Amino acid sequence: MRKGDPTKIRKDFISDYDGLAGQWWDPRGSLAPLGWIARARADFVPTAGNEGARLLDIACGGGLFGPYAVSKGYRAVGLDMSELSLREALRHGFSEVVQADMADLPFDDASFDVVTAGQCLEHVPDPFAVVAEACRVLRPGGTLVVDTIADTAMARFVSITLAENLPIPGRPPRGTHDHRLFVNRERLVRVAREHGVELGLIGLHPRLREMARYAAGRLDAVRMVRTRSTSVLYLGRGTKT
Ligand SMILES: C[S@@+](CC[C@H](N)C(=O)[O-])C[C@H]1O[C@@H](n2cnc3c(N)ncnc32)[C@H](O)[C@@H]1O
Repeated sequence: MRKGDPTKIRKDFISDYDGLAGQWWDPRGSLAPLGWIARARADFVPTAGNEGARLLDIACGGGLFGPYAVSKGYRAVGLDMSELSLREALRHGFSEVVQADMADLPFDDASFDVVTAGQCLEHVPDPFAVVAEACRVLRPGGTLVVDTIADTAMARFVSITLAENLPIPGRPPRGTHDHRLFVNRERLVRVAREHGVELGLIGLHPRLREMARYAAGRLDAVRMVRTRSTSVLYLGRGTKT
């Protein structure tokens, strides 16, 4: 495991995912919805164009995206702050992991064919710096896929008031999200454009009927549905020029 410069790590802003590392792959654990979103994210990642193609998963956590990256033909590199999560990622398809701050990626310019950043921008004080970094390490012609939570009242209600309090499995721990860190869509698109990537946005939400069956213990996972509304959970995809 390679480590980035520890002086660059802002520990005060980082959720302690080490404590949750045992739950990454538990289909009824508190991180379960991240697995549903990882599956949806995979649809936006193209199949690798050559054998050595590399995908960087920013804030890879326990590696939920690893199997999708590998099945699309990529050598998957994961970056996260949580050492225990990175160990988990290594068991799930990632061939290399790096412990570092996502705002300061320890990689060369244009060194990845695909960069993904799932459900992490809403955990850092400057998500736009992360997007700029993601664009920097992406090669021209490469694909950027980011998904996060919008800075809207609706997202605050759904992602915090509802999601953190419903008495069902897959509920994130209280305090997982701070609505002040939710990500402005216009600014995200603008910053990506300034760094060479024109993002198209699409909304995602869990299939409600499947949510009910999951809550009742009759399903182990819920599929995400695409929606035109990007006001809660949204995904941006674009190609670098
Ligand atoms: C909600 S999880 C998402 C994990 C993964 N992308 C997924 O969708 O399954 C957020 C992740 O961001 C990581 N994280 C938080 N702040 C970070 C930072 N500044 N640099 C790198 N990773 C960070 C956490 O350790 C955690 O694994």
